[in-house]
Amino acid sequence: MLPYKKITIVAGLFALMIIGMAAVRPEQAPPKHKMNLKVLPKNISHEELGKVMDEWKNALGVKCNFCHAPSADSTSRRLDFASDAKPEKDIARHMFTMTGKINKKYFKFDKDEKDAVPAISCMTCHRGSPHPGESK
Ligand code: HEC
Ligand code: HEC
Repeated sequence: MLPYKKITIVAGLFALMIIGMAAVRPEQAPPKHKMNLKVLPKNISHEELGKVMDEWKNALGVKCNFCHAPSADSTSRRLDFASDAKPEKDIARHMFTMTGKINKKYFKFDKDEKDAVPAISCMTCHRGSPHPGESK
């Protein structure tokens, strides 16, 4: 076999490999739609996001639709999770930032410990109610 033929074959196989990899890739890639995250880490995994949402939902004793507006498509009963139409969603963002600040300022006793466990959470105040200030 002539050397240039070998090179052509090797290059051809290599090209096929690249095409194959490209075809498999999208499944592992992050979701295509752009997420609307302003306080949570932008690279948060689906699993971790789900955990945070469940935690907030349980702390306030509400359903997802307390913060998330319905889909603009009226034939769909789904929620539009990326929408900021409900003011509760933005309040939740402020609450999240506030909770982080309280922990950082008042609950970090050991300065050398970088990963201090957060001492307060939504549950500390809310205890299963969206209005912790009211008596039940
Ligand atoms: C207390 C309010 C609150 C509740 C309850 C809540 N969420 Fe969220 N959710 C938010 C906020 C705030 C964000 C945006 C976070 C940010 O800006 O980093 C968000 C973001 C999301 C996103 C990402 C949307 C995007 O693409 O930008 C999904 C998906 C989501 N929530 C699902 C849920 C589900 C499912 C539930 C019910 C189990 C739920 N949420 C309950 C406040 C809430
Ligand atoms: C230091 C106490 C405290 C912490 C911690 C806290 N909240 Fe709140 N939150 C309140 C108070 C007080 C209100 C006002 C309640 C009212 O309107 O009666 C409130 C109101 C809210 C509201 C608006 C409720 C409404 O009906 O409009 C949302 C949403 C909310 N909190 C989400 C959260 C989330 C999510 C967390 C955790 C990331 C959190 N909060 C942590 C004290 C707290």
